[in-house]
Amino acid sequence: MNILLLGSGGREHAMAYKMAESKKLSKLFIAPGNAGTAQCGINVNLDLVDFEAIRNFVLENQIQMLVVGPEIPLVEGIHDFFLNDEALKQIQVIGPQKQAAMLEGSKDFAKSFMNRHQIPTAKSKTFTKSQIRDGVVYINSLEPPYVLKADGLAAGKGVIITDNQGEAAQVLNYMLADALFGEASTKVVIEEYLSGIELSVFVASDGNSYKILPVAKDYKRIGEGDSGPNTGGMGSVSHVPFADKEFMDKVEKRIVIPTIEGLKQENIPFKGFVFIGLMNVKGEPYVIEYNVRMGDPETETVFPRIKSDVIDLFEGIANGNLNTKQLEIDPRFATCIVLTAKGYPNSYEKGKQIHHIEKVTDSLVFHAGTKTDEQGNILSNGGRVLAITSFGNSIEEAIALSLKSAEIISFDGKYYRKDIAKDLIAKL
Ligand code: AMP
Ligand code: GLY
Repeated sequence: MNILLLGSGGREHAMAYKMAESKKLSKLFIAPGNAGTAQCGINVNLDLVDFEAIRNFVLENQIQMLVVGPEIPLVEGIHDFFLNDEALKQIQVIGPQKQAAMLEGSKDFAKSFMNRHQIPTAKSKTFTKSQIRDGVVYINSLEPPYVLKADGLAAGKGVIITDNQGEAAQVLNYMLADALFGEASTKVVIEEYLSGIELSVFVASDGNSYKILPVAKDYKRIGEGDSGPNTGGMGSVSHVPFADKEFMDKVEKRIVIPTIEGLKQENIPFKGFVFIGLMNVKGEPYVIEYNVRMGDPETETVFPRIKSDVIDLFEGIANGNLNTKQLEIDPRFATCIVLTAKGYPNSYEKGKQIHHIEKVTDSLVFHAGTKTDEQGNILSNGGRVLAITSFGNSIEEAIALSLKSAEIISFDGKYYRKDIAKDLIAKL
């Protein structure tokens, strides 16, 4: 089978790495890819929202499956575009149609969906520009901290949490009246703060049946001890010890099943991955957000743990026979440390030569923001540069290997968190 994978991050390298292991694969193309995906297939320079260019490429190269890594093409309707085109409609697309992608593309839509299906989540209300006063009254009725969320996609920056009531009102005004996040903040969701520990649950769905993949936890803040600004993710760990059988039974019964059944009841097809961001509040799971794709950097620990053929799993998603597929999981822990460029998550340096990746023997090195120059050197090309994944029988064992490998690789301005997964070790 010829497959086109869309995306260019560590998530896509981890997916490409597992796809390249499959006997079902003939040719793998990655668009636009990075220096790492080029080791698993052929990188092609396509714009992720230029659907006509993707169409031409797919037809010229006899692509039989399209796997969509990031959310933007899904929210823009790439799956619908394929279904509505005579020449493309037979092609299997992994990633939901536009309507379901609204679960990620609109927080208001996601909240209403959860409320319709009694899925536990923080209490909330949505406000528009003409309702700023009502929004302030609502803020005043809540206990601090206050959580304000731009409704639409805002590159992970659209959530503002503050302890100060006055500041919350001001932020509401900036978001709605001054379009702080452009169109994304035409609506703002204000919600109750949930206090607990977060985790990421990934569910493969064929629109009818589902399979829960290994759970993971990511580390969003730039600094050690979860300090400083949010980033795209500084590391991850899978499995998460507190997500024991009792907790996961609650997640499945109260959240996963109502989500899949709710989509079915509302005739919203979903072929792809539901990523449920959860808060564990004293042992009870609440949904923080839905995404309609795999997480990054969670995929760098979740996918390496999948021992069964991932293309077979993708076929189950596309063909509606996911329940017949085997999902075999490596019981070991996996940890991932992300190496970032100097300055990230603010403006950062690019084009730094990366050395000694080949000397790493104890870890998998997934590329995120990298490219190859004409001489074959690997250069940094993004804020998150590399994701270093290791296995271990304990979190301690895995993270020690990731730390060792992170030390070996060098580039100017390299930074990484040395405390990834350590909070979970203390809890064992
Ligand atoms: P989101 O984009 O909805 O995932 O929000 C970004 C981050 O803000 C989440 O990963 C949480 O750490 C935090 N967050 C969002 N909503 C809440 C909430 N209701 N209570 C506490 N923290 C939240
Ligand atoms: N790691 C969080 C995300 O992919 O959105």
